[in-house]
Amino acid sequence: MKVNITETVLRDANQSLIATRLPFSDFEGILETLDNAGYYSLECWGGATFDSCLRYLNEDPWERLRKIKAKCPKTPLQMLLRGQNILGYKHYPDDVVRLFVRKSAENGMDIFRIFDALNDFRNIQVAVDEVLKCGKHAQGCICYTTSPVHTLEKYAQMGKELEDMGVHSICIKDMAGIMGPDEAYKLIKALKSSTKLPVFLHTHATTGLGPMTYLKAVEAGCDGIDCAISQFSGGTAQPATETMKYALEQLGYETTLDSKKLKEINDFFAPVKAKFLESGGLDPYVMGTKTDALVYQVPGGMLSNLVAQLKAQNAYDRLDEVLAEVPNVRKDLGYPPLVTPISQMVGVQATANVLAGERYKNVSKEVKAYLKGEYGKAPGEVNQDLVKKVWGDEEIITCRFADTLKPQFEDAKKELGKIARSDEDVLSWIAFPTNAEKFFEYREEQESNTVNYTIEKKED
Ligand code: CO
Repeated sequence: MKVNITETVLRDANQSLIATRLPFSDFEGILETLDNAGYYSLECWGGATFDSCLRYLNEDPWERLRKIKAKCPKTPLQMLLRGQNILGYKHYPDDVVRLFVRKSAENGMDIFRIFDALNDFRNIQVAVDEVLKCGKHAQGCICYTTSPVHTLEKYAQMGKELEDMGVHSICIKDMAGIMGPDEAYKLIKALKSSTKLPVFLHTHATTGLGPMTYLKAVEAGCDGIDCAISQFSGGTAQPATETMKYALEQLGYETTLDSKKLKEINDFFAPVKAKFLESGGLDPYVMGTKTDALVYQVPGGMLSNLVAQLKAQNAYDRLDEVLAEVPNVRKDLGYPPLVTPISQMVGVQATANVLAGERYKNVSKEVKAYLKGEYGKAPGEVNQDLVKKVWGDEEIITCRFADTLKPQFEDAKKELGKIARSDEDVLSWIAFPTNAEKFFEYREEQESNTVNYTIEKKED
């Protein structure tokens, strides 16, 4: 049996270990080798890469995608798309979502992994539909979490819903790395029997469960797993590509990966990693195994946010109380998966509840919007007393939130005028206005510098 392996070094490992600060120039030289190594796909775009290109790296994310595609024509490129949120944290109107998908496809994207933080599939259906219209691979994603309402039957039913939507494959996204081998085995079995689709598993090595979880998933018939080349593997990133290949092949599975090429790729990233370690961009702390998530049932990233938040408020000694409050807030919100941005919302609210000495004395803007239904439908029952407390008799949104939004693209294009050189620029601006403007200015400046330089040379 063949196991498909996706390489995440350019996206998730980059995002999880070095806060997505890898510039194109740091990996340009290895793209051809990556293309020839036998990967099922290269996850290289989406998630935080888009924002990070504009915000920190002065790169045009679209140009990055085109340049990757030019050097990797054979291996499908893969991205992570937050459904109706595209790559941000709020809901965008359908015209923006559709054009974003179309432009991504035109610029080289092949596989679109699409998720909604609440697993409210109304929030991914437009993106999925547009991917299908573009003739590209739509992968429907289920965010994994544990709660009294997240039963195997429920997950199997989600798989069925995705299949009915027309997706080509399903991915179970264990963003916190909390899925154990037994859960993986049962979950993959359940999805393989409720659907006819290939099922992929995405996890993180944070708690150390990753490789065991992958192995049991494969035994249950999992079609593909996400790994990171060993220099950028482990800790908050994915389990190592070479390690998984070795173990799987020893057990008689086929991976299509070329060991020599993997070695080349890994050697290439050794000095890159060293550079980030030296600059402090890579904190060795994130590379370790952290089992606290198994005790607290709180994802690693959320835990470090909580710690930082409490330290900033001189209340680190209240950590245990806050951790005890997290499950209560989560229950009140109907057991949402603890994925960005909901993990932060739950964390902030739990902290506020503890520090104020009164539950929901202060309710954040985001939690208010959540209670109003702006994020979609919660997996379980939302605490109605809390909804009443915050919204009184105001009407709660039960429709797909994007149905309440007006088209935005044409107006944005007009507003930007000449600053935008392409529809892609307009989309960058809609997604991240401040950082896109900053980048447009930088680009303008760079080009005028280049012209001056040429003129000076001529005068010599
Ligand atoms: Co991930």
